[in-house]
Amino acid sequence: MQIRLSQLSIQLKIAISSFLLSMGYAYLFAQINLQLNTRPADGDASGLATVQDIVVTYHGDRSQTLLGQKINGSMRQYLPDEEDKIAIEQWINNGRTEEEYTEVVQPLMDAYCVSCHPYGDQPDYPLETYEQVFASAEPDSGPSIGKLARFTHYHAFGMGIFAFLLSFTFAFTTFSSPFRTFGVALPFLSIFLDITCWWLTRLISPAFAYLVYFAGLMTGVSFAITIFGSLYDIWFRKVEE
Ligand code: HEC
Repeated sequence: MQIRLSQLSIQLKIAISSFLLSMGYAYLFAQINLQLNTRPADGDASGLATVQDIVVTYHGDRSQTLLGQKINGSMRQYLPDEEDKIAIEQWINNGRTEEEYTEVVQPLMDAYCVSCHPYGDQPDYPLETYEQVFASAEPDSGPSIGKLARFTHYHAFGMGIFAFLLSFTFAFTTFSSPFRTFGVALPFLSIFLDITCWWLTRLISPAFAYLVYFAGLMTGVSFAITIFGSLYDIWFRKVEE
């Protein structure tokens, strides 16, 4: 005889329902975290997370450099002349040559920057030589491979277990066999797609960010189906004798 959720003892029903609800909470807070921490990635924190935020998170914004950001941000105050800031930006855009550095950039660094870089204890970020300043203006190419590998590793573990427990529960509902097969497979398909596309976005093309976005929506739908479907089965389904 096949076990059905609606035929379980009240204790098991409560245990499984509580588990499903806590998975729902976990998912909800993953979304809130995403909206708060990924949404401002492209510098625009309004509205919901967009495909552009995903591009910046996984592929980097290759038109941005640390030096370029800082001279327009927290280091702006140390560069009194707008022209000097523009001169540094031009050097970055012109390909960061050594001649232009010696002629234009180095005097500015010496005058306004090296007193703190690295002479102060805070920060420990030297800007004294051509190589150092060149490195500070490297285009932002997204997370390092090591960082993304770490991120993938713990997400794959966590999401895999999450998906398995939801699929496993949903498998014991009384929905039609094709719908149960769909509900059981969807969480895994969306997780595989999501994780694979983080890497494709990082390594191949920012266009894969659209698939990351789609996979994120698919994950949401799959969790909604398995959580609400199972809860419905536990509490509202008529038991067939
Ligand atoms: C009064 C000391 C001071 C001066 C002068 C100064 N900085 Fe900074 N700089 C800091 C501090 C403190 C930080 C770390 C906080 C931050 O990033 O805003 C920092 C951070 C940076 C960073 C990022 C380093 C990192 O590890 O992420 C860059 C790039 C930078 N500064 C460039 C410059 C440039 C270019 C100038 C000259 C126009 C300059 N700074 C002048 C104190 C200074």
